[in-house]
Amino acid sequence: MKMFDVYPLHPVTIVKAEGSYVWDDQGTKYLDMYGGHAVISIGHTHPHYVELVTRQIREIGFYSNSVIIAQQKELAEKLGKLSGKTDYQLFLVNSGAEANENAMKLASFHTGRKKVVAFRGAFHGRTSLAVAATDNPAIVAPVNETDNVVFLPYNDRQSLEEYFAKHGEETAAVIIEAIQGVGGIRVASEEFLRSIRSLCDQYGTVWIADCVQCGCGRSGKYYASDWAGVNADIYTMAKGIGNGFPMGALSITPVIAAKYGMLGTTFGGNHLACAAAIAVADVIQENNLMDNVEKVGDYLIERLRTLPGIKEVRGRGLMIGIELPFETAELRKKLLFDEKIFVGSSGKYVIRLLPALTLTKAHADIFLTAFEKLLTQKC
Ligand SMILES: Cc1ncc(COP(=O)(O)O)c(C=O)c1O
Repeated sequence: MKMFDVYPLHPVTIVKAEGSYVWDDQGTKYLDMYGGHAVISIGHTHPHYVELVTRQIREIGFYSNSVIIAQQKELAEKLGKLSGKTDYQLFLVNSGAEANENAMKLASFHTGRKKVVAFRGAFHGRTSLAVAATDNPAIVAPVNETDNVVFLPYNDRQSLEEYFAKHGEETAAVIIEAIQGVGGIRVASEEFLRSIRSLCDQYGTVWIADCVQCGCGRSGKYYASDWAGVNADIYTMAKGIGNGFPMGALSITPVIAAKYGMLGTTFGGNHLACAAAIAVADVIQENNLMDNVEKVGDYLIERLRTLPGIKEVRGRGLMIGIELPFETAELRKKLLFDEKIFVGSSGKYVIRLLPALTLTKAHADIFLTAFEKLLTQKC
């Protein structure tokens, strides 16, 4: 059997990793400014993570959600503290799409309504409703098409107000990435996020902050929408929450009441996944990683803005988009094969940086030096 060929691959086989570095099967070392797509939060193979996951698998890896899993409670307490939302409720799943799917379903159960507002440029995943709320018709199958999702322009308060004035009473949820990832690292204005909060309050609509990519401390706050100083009703998480262990989560306002059987999953919240997420939460807390993110992120963004030939630098913390006036494919190839640096991309013109939250200024300098050299050659 061969693989179902849906991913265009770099011809590199990664066999080992530590901190912000990975090694291929030829022994070549690469600086990882991509974090396996925002997944590596506390650095590859962090000793505390390896210890907790290893210890857990020796004891018990899995049992179903029909019994008490003490690690879930420990994780809920730690995430509540880390995010500053101790009164919220945790529901554990396995991926970002599943987190968003459940969040929109929950909003609909809670309000008894059907309509969801999403935004232009949004990416919320590939399952049924998550993909319907994703602004990319190429990945929406005919069976996923629905009139229940409405797309509005991102950061456009007036359109949102006009929409709510007409359809607020039928709207179950507004779902937004406070920093759009796939959409090209676009940052929602604090004013826009605050207007979502007040419209959702006014019309009894549920605000879902999709923090799958911009959450878990990546922006310098636990949830990127926290920069606006207002709370969402549901935060969805995945990627960085398990540092590579597949996990997703919903942090749910106490206003939404749980009912037996309302949501469910076989694997979500299993012992092993919880051990991984507990280790991540411990390391973020104990090492003040959100402070590091702000410090190193600000440094990178400021320095990038001084480099020649860049159209725009966007983002916050260690979620950074560098828009170039030319297609980035060749430059990314040079970064990978000549400079031994992994970066990501959004579309054809944006380079995306999503490194581990443990990134140091010294790592940032290695990237900046290499990037400046390549840009200078190009200009
Ligand atoms: C903002 C956002 N939401 C949802 C998802 C979907 O997550 P997953 O691939 O874990 O289903 C992604 C994945 O890139 C994402 O960036």
